[in-house]
Amino acid sequence: MSAARAVRRVAAATRASAWALAIANVAAAHAAAAYRPRIDYQLNCQGCHLADGTGEAGRVPSIRGMLVPFAQNPAGRRYLIQVPGVSESALSDRATAAVLNWMVHRLSDVPAPGDFVPFTSAEVARWRRIPLTNVAATRARVQRQIDAQLPSRARSTASRSTDRSPM
Ligand code: HEC
Repeated sequence: MSAARAVRRVAAATRASAWALAIANVAAAHAAAAYRPRIDYQLNCQGCHLADGTGEAGRVPSIRGMLVPFAQNPAGRRYLIQVPGVSESALSDRATAAVLNWMVHRLSDVPAPGDFVPFTSAEVARWRRIPLTNVAATRARVQRQIDAQLPSRARSTASRSTDRSPM
């Protein structure tokens, strides 16, 4: 084989392994994307919230039913970031956003809607530094807001269908 051909062969082999490496890196990055927040949750949250997010009756609330409805409401999103276990954790803003997103997809009984807007590190940075003065009162206010929105949406759907009715 000529020297030039040998060089071309080595170059092609190098390109092929560079591709294999790039593909392996992408796969590893995807695995890491779910791995890191899971580990962060285990180390920083699970002690109180348990592995499945059900918490402990009377002490730590279950997040399984509230997470998605709260994440779909602007005041609810702020509450999720400002609640002390989240805002005061040792996790960075980015890691906190990733844990919240991981929880929404892995620990929620209510499936995340297709248009779910993921938490971002900028959003976490903005709200975590403003502490809640009264966690229970804020939570109750947000819950009332969410409850009030559900029937009004149902009402507007109902009135639209009445409009279409011939009677
Ligand atoms: C020391 C125990 C403890 C740790 C650790 C903890 N939490 Fe909490 N968490 C609570 C308690 C208790 C509440 C109820 C609100 C309150 O009193 O602060 C709560 C409330 C919440 C809520 C709102 C639930 C609701 O129904 O209002 C979310 C979301 C949450 N925690 C997420 C997290 C995340 C994410 C982490 C880890 C980064 C974490 N928590 C770490 C104890 C903890």
